[in-house]
Amino acid sequence: MPQHEQPPTNAAPRRAVVTGSAGFIGSHLAHALVQAGTTVIGVDRRDPSTDPTAAANLAALRGRSGYHHVTADLLHCAIDPLLIDADAVFHLAGIPGVRPSWGPQFGDYLASNVLATHRVLDASTRIGVPRLVVASSSSVYGPTDGGASLETDRPKPASPYAVTKLAEEQLCLAYAERPIGPSVIALRYFTVYGPRQRADMFTHRALHAALTGQPLRLYGDGHQRRDFTYIDDAIAATIAAAVVPTAHGAINVGGGSNASLLDVINIATSLTGRDIQLHQDHTRNGDVLLTRADPGLAGEVLGWQPRVDLHSGLRAHMQALAAQIPDYSRAA
Ligand code: NAD
Ligand code: UGA
Repeated sequence: MPQHEQPPTNAAPRRAVVTGSAGFIGSHLAHALVQAGTTVIGVDRRDPSTDPTAAANLAALRGRSGYHHVTADLLHCAIDPLLIDADAVFHLAGIPGVRPSWGPQFGDYLASNVLATHRVLDASTRIGVPRLVVASSSSVYGPTDGGASLETDRPKPASPYAVTKLAEEQLCLAYAERPIGPSVIALRYFTVYGPRQRADMFTHRALHAALTGQPLRLYGDGHQRRDFTYIDDAIAATIAAAVVPTAHGAINVGGGSNASLLDVINIATSLTGRDIQLHQDHTRNGDVLLTRADPGLAGEVLGWQPRVDLHSGLRAHMQALAAQIPDYSRAA
């Protein structure tokens, strides 16, 4: 269990469906819900019996009576039977990541982030699911003028990935405007980090480089800033979004730890006592210089605020990662 794991909220749905449950955020969410007494159906197209990342992400849930895993692709599977009697659907399944979305995989982004979401919305409407919480992204804001992003700001997505996340979020909110169908909260997560973070993300790579001595590729000069959000904080906001009485459109989930990539490198170095070998590379297309959440609406609607500071969060992330690197204790 991560060092900072805490009961995420006093209230949790009785029965819930988590899509993307074999992923980074989805597996933490499913675990926190089961801990809170929720019966969870987790759906993911990655099969934990053949996919090592899915198996590792779901390890803490194996054998738990409150958790039922379904390996299925939301683009094709029968979704309705999975949703019967659910108080909430947490729709986290999707293809994440800014950089690969410029490539030929864009079709996958479109299919999983938009078309599969459409199927989840139709099924939720047919079954009468009362609440859908969907994973949106800070990337919908695009480049900012340096101030904090408000949910009412005009989105300017700067990558194909961000375009699909905006489409996904807006599709869900359009469904929510109808008299039938679920009420919807779209959570705009800001760069979530912590144990089991995806291996393509920066904090994972910086800590891995510090732990192993392997080089870290830095895209740009490292002065890019992110509103890094610790996983347990993201989960607390996500569960709150399922149980607050009124749905409220899009809400930022971020803030509290605005820092540059160089700051993360410095903390990783001090936590491990080892320097990181940097390979500087060109800035990637669609990479924004700054993300910064205005956390006001999340406080107002969800009663949520981030609790874990960057140094403590990175320490917990580093400890979890070190435990997976067999030779680390010998090499250190
Ligand atoms: P992840 O890749 O670890 O998890 C996503 C999961 O969705 C994967 O296990 C994948 O197999 C599953 N999936 C994808 N398409 C599917 C389909 N068609 N049917 C069934 N399962 C499918 O990613 P993550 O970092 O946990 O992100 C979860 C969600 O949060 C994504 O929607 C992502 O866009 C969003 N998000 C993440 C971050 C972050 O910092 N990690 C920030 C903003 C938004
Ligand atoms: C992250 C997630 O990957 C997205 O899925 C999510 O939607 C988004 O956060 C969000 O908050 O909305 P990103 O901010 O690009 O996107 O996060 P990272 O992939 O961790 O990259 C952060 C920064 O580190 C970027 O400037 C990137 O160019 C840089 N980076 C990343 C490197 O310099 N080297 C690397 O090896 C990886």
